Amino acid sequence: MSELRFPENFVWGAATAAYQIEGAARDDGRGPSIWDTFSRTPGKVYQGHTGDVACDHYHRYADDVALMAELGLRAYRFSVAWPRIQPDGTGPVNPRGLDFYDRLTDTLLERGIDPIVTLYHWDLPQAFGDRGGWTNRDTAEHFATYATAVYARLGDRVGTWTTLNEPWCSAYLGYGNGVHAPGEQDPAAAFTAVHHLLLGHGLAARALRAAGARTVGITLNPADVLPADPQSAADAAAVRLVDGLHNRIFFDPLLAGGYPDDVREHVARIVEPTFIRDGDEKLIAAPIDLLGINYYAPTYVAGRPDGAGDAAYPGTDGAVHFVPPAGPLTEMGWMIEPAGLTRLLERIATDYPGVPLMITENGAAFPDKAGSDSPDGPGQVIDTDRIAYLDGHLRAAHEAISRGVDLRGYLVWSFMDNFEWAEGYRKRFGIVHVDYLTQRRTPKASARWYQEVISRNGL
Ligand code: FCB
Repeated sequence: MSELRFPENFVWGAATAAYQIEGAARDDGRGPSIWDTFSRTPGKVYQGHTGDVACDHYHRYADDVALMAELGLRAYRFSVAWPRIQPDGTGPVNPRGLDFYDRLTDTLLERGIDPIVTLYHWDLPQAFGDRGGWTNRDTAEHFATYATAVYARLGDRVGTWTTLNEPWCSAYLGYGNGVHAPGEQDPAAAFTAVHHLLLGHGLAARALRAAGARTVGITLNPADVLPADPQSAADAAAVRLVDGLHNRIFFDPLLAGGYPDDVREHVARIVEPTFIRDGDEKLIAAPIDLLGINYYAPTYVAGRPDGAGDAAYPGTDGAVHFVPPAGPLTEMGWMIEPAGLTRLLERIATDYPGVPLMITENGAAFPDKAGSDSPDGPGQVIDTDRIAYLDGHLRAAHEAISRGVDLRGYLVWSFMDNFEWAEGYRKRFGIVHVDYLTQRRTPKASARWYQEVISRNGL
């Protein structure tokens, strides 16, 4: 294959999230989050796994950062655990919680790695969970207060601020199909949560900006939605509906001034949207400096009156059939289709021009082993399937750049194996293997491959 070079100053890095790696669930005054509660609810997470210990990154961060530096990472996207900062939600700021991120930030900077902070990666303080979580408008207001507190401590050293990670998941998996915390299955709650998450973004972005933040953005997980049959009008209608619920319900208020009419009408059939108040959309539409894109797999749909729909897309039953993934799949059962990334990036750049993009997550779970039981020998993980996945998606990203998309960087998901939400520890996304018994880290072949990509700034 031909050699590809990325633009100068292209940001190469990796991403993680607090609850997935930190552990130390009770250390230094951390309060409980909805994920602590959810993972303890029987039947919600694979084999009752929790984030109590996870990768113990809270105690091992210095070694982890040293490994990141060894691999040549230029940026590291991590999230701040709100329950460390405000253990009971609204109460006073806990300085010991901030201390950890302070140390982490300094350690990254000492190693020449740029910190990219995500303020919310799903671990809502349980205190808010008790009051309706994101269905309660107050949560959005409090989110801005929390954002201000984190900025006050780290803002002198952190340049890039992301408000939310994948509000689609928080709203639709948390309140629609109940696969994520808090595990509710209530279509009206799901749409209410969508709006309050966006409002929380708007309020936090305004607060960050007022405090002096340079680069403020949000990370979405837009779907590349495709028709099962490109000739079918019914399938095209299904694409339009799912695209509205997955993509335009977020993109339009953030980047085009407000919710699209067709999405509003769909929502109004399920819940009277009284939660959208005058002025909200204006707040949500305040300009952002960077849009984070997480991409894993495409979504194929067909328009069918007998379609079962999906509770993660409220109101799609009796209209949409979600086509089961086929072809090469990752261990998550997700389709491998790098072209979807090119399509998505181009579409966003075309429909919502003017915002620089960054791939804030992309990667794959595959079954791999390290240690004496590894088929590749002691301490080795030869994950050629992951390398192929990453290679394909980097080529797809490069293709988007060559077609004019303003793509600023690529962050692999994930730096290391971690707690994969409802799947617990059984799904491994890391380029670094974690042995959860010993907490030993072993760079996989993909980590060495990525190191090479970064040092050449290309493939
Ligand atoms: C994304 C999440 C991330 C991780 C990957 C596999 O939806 O943002 O935390 O779980 O999926």
